[in-house]
Amino acid sequence: MKIVVLNGSPKGKMSFTIQYVEYVKQFHPEHDWVILDVAKKIKKLERKDAEFQAVMEEIKSADGVLWSFGLYILCVPSQYMRFIELISLKNKKDVFDGKYTGIISSSIHYYDHTAHQYLRAECEDLGMQFIDGLSVYLNDYRIKGIRELLRIFMENFLLSIKNKEATTRLYSPLHYFDFDYQPSSPDQQIEKTDKKIIILTDGNNPGNNLSKMINRFKQSYSNDIEVIDLNDIEIKGGCLGCMRCGYDYNCFYDDEFKDVYNNRIRTADIILFAGTIKGRYLSAKWKQFYDRAFFWNHTPSLVGKQIGYLISGPISQNHNLIEILEAYATTRQDANFVGILTDEIADSISLDKQIQSFARQLLYFSERDYIRPQNFLGVGGHKVFRDEIWGPIRMIWQADHRYFRKHGKYDFPQKRYFIRFGNFFMLLLCKIPKFRRKFYNNLKSMPTNRMRSTLDNAAKKELKVVKAS
Ligand SMILES: Cc1cc2nc3c(=O)[nH]c(=O)nc-3n(C[C@H](O)[C@H](O)[C@H](O)COP(=O)(O)O)c2cc1C
Repeated sequence: MKIVVLNGSPKGKMSFTIQYVEYVKQFHPEHDWVILDVAKKIKKLERKDAEFQAVMEEIKSADGVLWSFGLYILCVPSQYMRFIELISLKNKKDVFDGKYTGIISSSIHYYDHTAHQYLRAECEDLGMQFIDGLSVYLNDYRIKGIRELLRIFMENFLLSIKNKEATTRLYSPLHYFDFDYQPSSPDQQIEKTDKKIIILTDGNNPGNNLSKMINRFKQSYSNDIEVIDLNDIEIKGGCLGCMRCGYDYNCFYDDEFKDVYNNRIRTADIILFAGTIKGRYLSAKWKQFYDRAFFWNHTPSLVGKQIGYLISGPISQNHNLIEILEAYATTRQDANFVGILTDEIADSISLDKQIQSFARQLLYFSERDYIRPQNFLGVGGHKVFRDEIWGPIRMIWQADHRYFRKHGKYDFPQKRYFIRFGNFFMLLLCKIPKFRRKFYNNLKSMPTNRMRSTLDNAAKKELKVVKAS
């Protein structure tokens, strides 16, 4: 059988993930393996039709296609996403239709599930038959058990293709809708504010819903709102994964990106990200923005900002993307995720009202420095970063280490001495049956009563302050 591996790492042959593929390949020399560096060569594939066609010819003659990538910013690298975008743009979906497929990725397991869900959904949209996906920790190659898992994964992949087994579909096709937004001017604009508000977009084309939403959003305020179009910034390419920024946040690229990010985006109080749904994500241009902003490494660079999303297209059918966008604002940036506004309501008057309310809410939260507490996406994400940066990846991400140390992000549970002593004594005391019975009998009421009395006392004091202000 012929297996085509689509290498999604911008590092090409130096990809970590491809080393896993190379390893497992050795157990199946009976098959013909072709590894194509589609992410590394993305500029060539974009520019030269013959190069792209050559990749399509390889896929056409393949029995199975394996997608291989290192995770970048909760999804696949922008160059890989661009490759997937090109498949539609160049009308090559039929090449993939019916092909058996699988995914292998390496990462630190930080939002690897969203990357896999994105790619599986894309495969299903291409009509491919999805067999399985495997996400490995980047350094797990030393572990015998993991190498065994890799072999089982591959054996199952090949067996499924050989037997032409039935596969399942998890993601319904996206339904796009026809709606031409006709905005009206607001009756009243929001009063002038000192807060800096910017809109970041990947395509402010007059006439489309997104640009009309952007304009209507701008009109909500009396302030002048700056619109930054990613297409107007000199961005020489996607993140190459070189990790040179790890020492002091200095990017390898010499283009306008860093300056725009630091001096025009980071200086804002309210940031509205505006984009159009493309497949199972926004555009690859947006992904390039997210990847390139990684010159700030794992350090949150939009701390305390209010972040909202203005999206044109069927985002309500894409909960994976909703999770990615929320996680980016919260766990990656320590910002306030205000929400996502979409044109799916398909009614101009209602959309006007929603935009007006959204604009007010963004400002309201900003004026009060409101950052809602992190949910699982943030709390869980933080713990992954904290442990990784403290441990195995610190020697690369030294700037992160300095930031995490300075900002109390190394909040390991073992440092909580009060809780540790409390636990120690309670564990001892609970060995006494009488104490244990009483403790567990009171568990329902005791903590709640304590909470109630603390909150009542706090309310008494704070009400006085609120009334006085
Ligand atoms: C720009 C960039 C972004 C990354 N983002 C993530 C991420 O969101 N989640 C994660 O678990 N690992 C992330 N990583 C770590 C990579 O996934 C990991 O190093 C992977 O092994 C790289 O694979 P490759 O060498 O095949 O490209 C990121 C690395 C880089 C350079």
